[in-house]
Amino acid sequence: MAGTIYKKPILFAVVVTVGILIGTAVMMVFPMLTPQMHPKLQNLNPYTALQLAGRDVYQEEGCFYCHTQTVRPLKAEVMRYGEYSKAGEFAYDQPFLWGSKRTGPDIARVGGKYTDKWHYKHFNDPRKLFQGSNMPSYGWLADRQVDAKAAEARMNALGFPYTKEEMAALSDKTKLDALVAYMQSLGHAVPRKPRPPMIAKGDMNPLAGDMNAVAEGKKVYEMNCAACHGVDAKGDIGPDLTDKEWLYVVGPVGDDTLFFTIADGTKKDMEFEGRRAKGGMPSWGEFFGKKKIWSLVSYIRSMEEKE
Ligand code: HEC
Ligand code: HEC
Repeated sequence: MAGTIYKKPILFAVVVTVGILIGTAVMMVFPMLTPQMHPKLQNLNPYTALQLAGRDVYQEEGCFYCHTQTVRPLKAEVMRYGEYSKAGEFAYDQPFLWGSKRTGPDIARVGGKYTDKWHYKHFNDPRKLFQGSNMPSYGWLADRQVDAKAAEARMNALGFPYTKEEMAALSDKTKLDALVAYMQSLGHAVPRKPRPPMIAKGDMNPLAGDMNAVAEGKKVYEMNCAACHGVDAKGDIGPDLTDKEWLYVVGPVGDDTLFFTIADGTKKDMEFEGRRAKGGMPSWGEFFGKKKIWSLVSYIRSMEEKE
């Protein structure tokens, strides 16, 4: 008996087709009909008029040739970019802008990572913030008005109902404003899981007093922090690190608080020793080990104004 089906090509073709169709039904139709497999995301919001105009700029400029907007469920990606992308996050994306090549990093979770001011500076000249970056400068977008008429046509096509006021507010915005608003809108639909703390509360700097740590911290600072806090740490996009003010309150902070600020970054209204953050400090815990962060703390302590 064995082998007879191979001698009947038509029957064979029918059996193969049925086999593939059953596979397709299991892989596609079953998940489509199982609501638990594509939960609705509570935090998902439609784009505002300005964000949608920014999304148009993103497409016009072909940012997706260099950036992806999808975090794959792989450990290394989740560690670098955050929670992996869920299907529901793209419900308002027509077409989706996942991209396929990463000359630059994935930006699916970039919203809220930096301040608006950082984005303006970065788009004006990426090399001011990342030496040797090959991302083009987009400062000229600040000289182009958002085309409110075209934006309206697209909103109608996509069925997004915007009010007259929202549309009118577009008229004095530049394409750069729109792009920054779009950047800040990305990646909020999925709640971000906090990483486990790297040190215990109340820990003191084990490298305190070690001059090598100060030198190491200075190097790490110049590479990663100077762009926002200034080469002399006197402040620019981020605050002055040499004064006695820590998160807008005068007075000293513990080593552990400094460590957590650097490791976890800040989000609007986060509290550190009762001080309220405004947000915009990126988190470095995913890139640096404990030793590097403690050496940064040593370096910052070495610059603090003395009595
Ligand atoms: C030629 C490739 C290229 C193009 C085109 C490009 N970028 Fe980039 N982008 C990069 C590289 C490389 C980096 C990393 C270094 C840097 O930040 O400059 C980057 C970084 C970024 C970052 C910071 C990401 C992070 O998490 O630190 C943002 C935001 C960004 N790009 C947005 C854009 C937008 C919006 C456009 C289109 C207007 C664009 N890029 C076009 C290559 C590119
Ligand atoms: C993208 C810009 C940016 C970069 C890069 C950056 N910071 Fe910050 N940093 C900020 C901002 C903005 C704040 C204010 C945070 C807030 O109000 O929530 C801040 C706050 C801080 C604070 C609290 C200081 C104070 O006086 O209130 C410390 C300490 C700090 N950063 C250290 C660092 C270190 C160390 C690095 C490099 C590893 C670094 N920062 C890189 C933007 C940045």
